[in-house]
Amino acid sequence: MTILTVNNMNVEFATPDGTVKAVNNLSYSISAGETLGIVGESGSGKSQSVFALMGLTAHNGKVSGEANLHGENLLSMSKRQLNHIRAEKISMIFQDPMTSLNPFMKIGKQLCEVLIIHKGLSRVEAQAESIRMLDAVRIPSPETRLNQYPHELSGGMRQRVMIAMALLCRPELLIADEPTTALDVTVQAQILSLLRDLQHEFNTAILLITHDMGIVAEMCDRVLVMYGGNRMEQADTESLFAHPAHPYTQDCSTPFHR
Ligand SMILES: Nc1ncnc2c1ncn2[C@@H]1O[C@H](COP(=O)(O)OP(=O)(O)OP(=O)(O)O)[C@@H](O)[C@H]1O
Ligand SMILES: [Mg+2]
Repeated sequence: MTILTVNNMNVEFATPDGTVKAVNNLSYSISAGETLGIVGESGSGKSQSVFALMGLTAHNGKVSGEANLHGENLLSMSKRQLNHIRAEKISMIFQDPMTSLNPFMKIGKQLCEVLIIHKGLSRVEAQAESIRMLDAVRIPSPETRLNQYPHELSGGMRQRVMIAMALLCRPELLIADEPTTALDVTVQAQILSLLRDLQHEFNTAILLITHDMGIVAEMCDRVLVMYGGNRMEQADTESLFAHPAHPYTQDCSTPFHR
């Protein structure tokens, strides 16, 4: 079942030197339980293409086109409507967990607030559910963690807390922008396998931005290649590696053909 359909989405920025077109006429769709990879060189518009979905475009930016989530256009929603949808239907994890975590608030409070605000749970229910979710992302002794601040955890643990927070309301779509780039290889592999497990459990669709073709090969069902704000190709992962059409994809995928 298709949950998100993006049609001719454009993102452009007004700058003192003129208009910067970050995303041009981008179209794609993603289904429940599917992982769609977005790859492309630095500056190709990957992050801006998903920030637009979340209403996170900077003030000098203008977004046009359509991004229909169950027939409702995210790009024309008010802040209030979007706030409702964020966390509940779509949520996002970032390269740096401190983008989503508040350094001054205990982890338990941060997790519970999401559930109290979006799901109307009581504090006691929210606490129980937060512990369940920390357990699901395989954080040891979750009860103790609730009383800690983000800086008291290792980078890998913080990443897990951010994933737990993103999945608390069981969103249908999880957007992950380079979620493991900052982590060492072993922790990276653990986090990716965790994402896959949680995806199976909750049937979450994942939009995964990465520049690592190894991660694409391991995680993605389909891949969209961006270059200069444009979609250069879109294919299922297997055929992309077998017959990469765009030079960027060819460069990135060669190690697999040695
Ligand atoms: N507020 C802004 N004003 C002007 N230009 C911007 C603004 N935000 C982003 N851009 C430009 O939009 C383009 C796309 O940026 P984006 O962050 O989406 O790239 P990316 O593909 O995610 O790159 P990376 O792999 O480095 O994260 C870049 O040229 C960037 O400079
Ligand atoms: Mg980016």
